[in-house]
Amino acid sequence: MIRENEYKQRRDCLLNKLSNNSIAIVFSATNKTRSNDTQYPYRQDSSLYYLTGFKEDNSALVLIKYKNKTKSILFVQKKDKNLELWTGKRLGIKKAKQKFKIDEIYESENLKSKLKEFLKDKKSLYCDLNSGHKKIKKVLQYAKSIENHKNISLLVGQMRLIKSENEIKLIKKAIGITANAHHYAMSSKKIGKKEYELQAEIEYIFKRSGAFSDAYTSIIACGNSANTLHYINNNKILVNNELILIDAGCEYDYYASDITRTIPVNGKFSEAQAEIYQLVLDTQIEIIKNIKPGVNRTKLQSLAELLLTRGMVKLGILHGSVKKLIKNNVHKKYYPHGIGHWMGIDVHDQAPYLDNKEKEIPLASGMVLTIEPGLYINKDDKRVPKKYRGIGIRIEDDILVTKYGNKNLSSAIVKRINEIEKLSQV
Ligand code: GLY
Ligand code: MN
Ligand code: MN
Repeated sequence: MIRENEYKQRRDCLLNKLSNNSIAIVFSATNKTRSNDTQYPYRQDSSLYYLTGFKEDNSALVLIKYKNKTKSILFVQKKDKNLELWTGKRLGIKKAKQKFKIDEIYESENLKSKLKEFLKDKKSLYCDLNSGHKKIKKVLQYAKSIENHKNISLLVGQMRLIKSENEIKLIKKAIGITANAHHYAMSSKKIGKKEYELQAEIEYIFKRSGAFSDAYTSIIACGNSANTLHYINNNKILVNNELILIDAGCEYDYYASDITRTIPVNGKFSEAQAEIYQLVLDTQIEIIKNIKPGVNRTKLQSLAELLLTRGMVKLGILHGSVKKLIKNNVHKKYYPHGIGHWMGIDVHDQAPYLDNKEKEIPLASGMVLTIEPGLYINKDDKRVPKKYRGIGIRIEDDILVTKYGNKNLSSAIVKRINEIEKLSQV
């Protein structure tokens, strides 16, 4: 659990980064219509949540730095008995004043007039200009005195790069639930089931454990479907002798997990499947060994490409000099994606990869990233030995960078061939 003090520290840290005579505005996420009058479940904007822990719609945080004095202001929805009957209790202004360590709290209906007032004598405006939020357009109309428009997501993103102990606890909690789901998938009977049945069982474990939802749409891809990287149809049959790629992770109290395991439908890897699997696994383990402060992610990417290409040459999937194959990007046909990404409140955490000078940000203690090498061989790829066609494998773990190295936060989720086979039943 994250307490008020930590949210206040984050706002203070952000205020510190603002230039003098500036105003920063972070709006809540908008409610999204699913169709006609039905709505998607509401989820707060990640940056607003990071800075306040406030989960209500129609809210906004304003931070002001004027004549080197700072002020924080929160706008909250008005109490409304009638609406609360339908959509649930609102905190309201009185309780918000007690709860938050924020200087001023107003009702959201005053947002427009207050913003006009706040914007009047400010020189810099920090907001998320790319969000497409309707309210931002309005703000820009009032922002006549503003000389500089700055990107708030970048500043908050820089802070979100380094996780606090409390954040790491929540990520671990999400991973713990996800671990149960993956272990269930390994140990349950699968032949003849539909991919969506397994998806439902996995997501049932998420939900019944108190997770808000999946952190992203689960990928349950049997056989050749795994070669579609973002396969989310999940509507085919789990066929005996094939593999299932399961990329599924829950979101718990606003923190994501992102785990992939590739397991045999019948509990036993074939020789060809095991060969590709072991190559991806050995690569993943080697990459993780290289994670420590100061290392660049692009170095991990190159290492993954080297190891996978070398392995593919050994297996007769690719032919020729490893160096030349990589230079000509031939390997990318089978390993077309990145080695991993930041993870936190968002599964692909909104945090920068480059610094203000466009230089890569090296790994540092407290960062969390995924490591997810994979190999994808289409069933129709006549250049590859027949036995490997139709195999798609990815293995993904969530790694915390520590002071001297790293900690694999999802190491409890089994991934060695003998461990998976031991856990599996036919
Ligand atoms: N599950 C999304 C990803 O692995 O990036
Ligand atoms: Mn990922
Ligand atoms: Mn994933």
